[in-house]
Amino acid sequence: MIIQPKIRGFICTTAHPDGCAANVREQIAYVKARPPLANPPKKVLVIGASTGYGLASRIVPAFGGGAATVGVFFEKPGEENRTGSAGWYNSVAFEEAAGEAGLYARSFNGDAFSSEMKRQVIDAIKADLGQVDCVIYSLASPRRTDPDTGEVYKSVLKPIGAPYSQKNVNTDKAEVNSVTIEPANDDEIAQTVKVMGGEDWELWLGALADAGALAEGATTVAYSYIGPDLTWKIYTEGTIGMAKKHLEESAARLNAKFGAGTAHVSVNKALVTQASSAIPVVPLYISLLYRVMKEKGTHEGCIEQIARLFADHLAVPGGPSQLDEKDRIRIDDWEMEDDIQAAVADLWAKVDTENLRQISDFDGYQREFLRLFGFGLEGVNYEAEADPVRGLPSA
Ligand code: NAI
Repeated sequence: MIIQPKIRGFICTTAHPDGCAANVREQIAYVKARPPLANPPKKVLVIGASTGYGLASRIVPAFGGGAATVGVFFEKPGEENRTGSAGWYNSVAFEEAAGEAGLYARSFNGDAFSSEMKRQVIDAIKADLGQVDCVIYSLASPRRTDPDTGEVYKSVLKPIGAPYSQKNVNTDKAEVNSVTIEPANDDEIAQTVKVMGGEDWELWLGALADAGALAEGATTVAYSYIGPDLTWKIYTEGTIGMAKKHLEESAARLNAKFGAGTAHVSVNKALVTQASSAIPVVPLYISLLYRVMKEKGTHEGCIEQIARLFADHLAVPGGPSQLDEKDRIRIDDWEMEDDIQAAVADLWAKVDTENLRQISDFDGYQREFLRLFGFGLEGVNYEAEADPVRGLPSA
């Protein structure tokens, strides 16, 4: 079939298999062009491995350090007349490239929150690798089914305590408007913490350890975000922020259980991903941030961020140094530089529909968004027939 983007609000319902493969190959090439990691983990489990930060977290240890990787994700394979999801095609392309490079790679498609998935993955780790020495937790999900009770929890992106009004961009219409979001109630806050907090991260580590599949001295990292005060009400001080606070508490509990230095929260940069495009206000902030960081020459995407995370923190002898006052790794350091934030705040006050394309990198935002789904990649013929059915080599 001829595969074109079909955008519905903040998601694209189609994905191009060859475009996704080109995207993955670009990320691999970036990693291979860097110096190899000094002290890389050798057997890495990535939970949420198919897109965004998780995909980059699979590529970096594999191609920068020769690691065997096990990936877990929730994606849709393609059918004869319907495209699969981008994460499916990314994972197929990753496994193909890993195979060509002689690297072990195995993937599991299904619900990472379930006990059954944990059992399957751990069985495979025990059979094929024995143990893992690094676990990356990079899930972003709107819902979670509790593995014990079967109850379904839903996460919401809302402020807490009072309504929040802020500028926002309608990405379909390229219009800057104002959005008002009503505050979450207590139940919505609790449900968001259930989905996006650290409970499932702790369950994974516990299950791995109980099965003897976690190596002595293994490390684990989960991802968080802080950002500037203009997004605090919807992010850091909102429902998702409460979940991220819980994630930090989980890191402390994991360290108490498995030894100091086992678990880390890494605060990452705001980037265009499927998860972040669903958050109100954030796409406009990202459009301005990209503009300012590109001008300064410090812009990074997921692969650059995660390459830096491993090179400077996770793959250095002795483990991460330079943690912040709450023991977090900060690879959002360049985003949070004073001059960057001052320039963004200045542009934020001025941005409107008329000047959106002049003063922000909204065009770059839209290009990046399409690339998430494999569109707009160089060297891909989008007019040609493409087979949407692609199989995972390890399946
Ligand atoms: P993403 O949407 O690109 O990736 C989410 C991953 O989770 C995918 O691999 C997806 O298949 C997987 N997934 C979702 N539900 C699942 C389930 N039930 N079972 C198995 N896999 C499932 O998201 P992104 O942006 O890479 O987010 C990853 C983490 O990074 C999140 O914790 C997010 O809060 C954090 N983060 C994101 C930032 C951003 O700007 N995008 C900034 C800082 C942190």
